[in-house]
Amino acid sequence: MRYNRWWQHRWIKFIGISLIVLTVFVMISALIFKFYVFTPKKLTTTITVETSRTTVMTTTSQQPDWLKTGNMNYARRTHTASVLANGKVLITGGLGDQDYLNSSELYDPLTQTWTTTGNMNIARAEHTASLLSNGKVLVTGGINNQGFLNSSELYNPSTGIWTLTGSMINARSEHTASVLTSGKVLITGGSVDEHFLNNSELFDPLTETWTATGSMNSPRAQHTASVLINGKVVVTGGCTNFNRLNSAELYDPLMETWTKTGSMNYTRSQFVATELKNGKVLVSGGFNYNFNRNSAELYDSVTGIWKITGNMNHSRWRHTSSILSNGNVLVTGGFDHYPLDTAELYDVSTETWISISQMNNARGGHTASVLTNGKVLISGGIYDGESLNSAELYKSVETN
Ligand SMILES: *[C@@H]1O[C@H](CO)[C@@H](O)[C@H](O)[C@H]1NC(C)=O
Ligand SMILES: *[C@@H]1O[C@H](CO)[C@@H](O)[C@H](O)[C@H]1NC(C)=O
Ligand SMILES: *[C@@H]1O[C@H](CO)[C@@H](O)[C@H](O)[C@H]1NC(C)=O
Ligand SMILES: *[C@@H]1O[C@H](CO)[C@@H](O)[C@H](O)[C@H]1NC(C)=O
Ligand SMILES: *[C@@H]1O[C@H](CO)[C@@H](O)[C@H](O)[C@H]1NC(C)=O
Repeated sequence: MRYNRWWQHRWIKFIGISLIVLTVFVMISALIFKFYVFTPKKLTTTITVETSRTTVMTTTSQQPDWLKTGNMNYARRTHTASVLANGKVLITGGLGDQDYLNSSELYDPLTQTWTTTGNMNIARAEHTASLLSNGKVLVTGGINNQGFLNSSELYNPSTGIWTLTGSMINARSEHTASVLTSGKVLITGGSVDEHFLNNSELFDPLTETWTATGSMNSPRAQHTASVLINGKVVVTGGCTNFNRLNSAELYDPLMETWTKTGSMNYTRSQFVATELKNGKVLVSGGFNYNFNRNSAELYDSVTGIWKITGNMNHSRWRHTSSILSNGNVLVTGGFDHYPLDTAELYDVSTETWISISQMNNARGGHTASVLTNGKVLISGGIYDGESLNSAELYKSVETN
């Protein structure tokens, strides 16, 4: 027995014969179940034939709303995206799979390619990025392995270099940044070491310095801030250590004061706000204790009142919201227990949401940028516990 070849071994013979029997069985089964095996293809054909009766449905089935558009050089989530004056999109920082990132990269809409540009001086996630009127991009605060950050940096698009500029008075993350009509940048709230901030500060791009500009009536992080057409800023929702908020307040840039305005119907944190072309502010979704929101509300800056508008089909938080060139709003992804691949359009005239086709990737903690060609660039985020490097484009409204 010891000198037998391996294939003469009893067990090997048994396994060999079993494999042959199994193969024959699978082949016969494949022939018998041919119909079922090919059913999905037939189904696809049937759908195509049926939908080709109407132009709209043919468009839906044959032209997906989403196109993959290369991968970023680094997988990242809770990063930022800013559309530069030259039309390119600057992506900064975020959390990679291993670490906080100092890298930044540019997306070129013409070539649909990603290239790295200068590294920030400090790695950061949960920071803010604002395009200044001089074309530079200001990033502020955030968090990294060292803790909460007070530092801010400026990106010069003509050199691709980041330089540290004045530090904020307070370190903070999950704060907001808004470019005022004066060109100054208003920073509000956020959290630092489990302490929630009520204060706000102003960055002056001319002197590159920070000054305090009053305190909000409530501390808040994970809130939103929107610059109204009258130049005031409405700040709403968010959370403190113990509460999620429905309160809202107004910043007056001339008086540098904060005053309360109407409260939202619902408490929300980690939601989104978009200013519509009619001057109203649309908020949607959000995180709230045991359940997530699918509701949406409109703020009227003239009356200072919030009004319920149509519900989204899906609850979501840490999603994105972008105003399209036709004035409607595109909402993408986010979380509802799991990352979502669904996307919906808000029709401003009917105040209803329409589901569009799903993104190629489910993702939350991603970014959305409206390009100068009208398309919307989606980048990164998290899925299945891992940061994503993938990016995709929502086709322009004009090609609908
Ligand atoms: C950026 O991060 C990389 C990797 O952590 C590091 O090697 C590099 O020195 C950092 N660059 C700057 C400018 O801090
Ligand atoms: C910013 O934070 C650093 C490190 O925590 C600290 O040394 C520095 O004094 C702070 N700067 C300001 C302006 O508070
Ligand atoms: C802001 O918070 C500080 C403590 O963090 C508190 O002393 C101050 O009264 C608050 N300001 C307002 C306007 O609530
Ligand atoms: C909720 O919104 C409706 C209008 O949509 C308004 O009449 C009502 O007062 C609001 N309720 C609260 C508690 O804010
Ligand atoms: C809403 O979502 C559900 C579950 O994902 C889906 O089955 C349904 O088709 C959606 N409805 C609309 C109107 O999009």
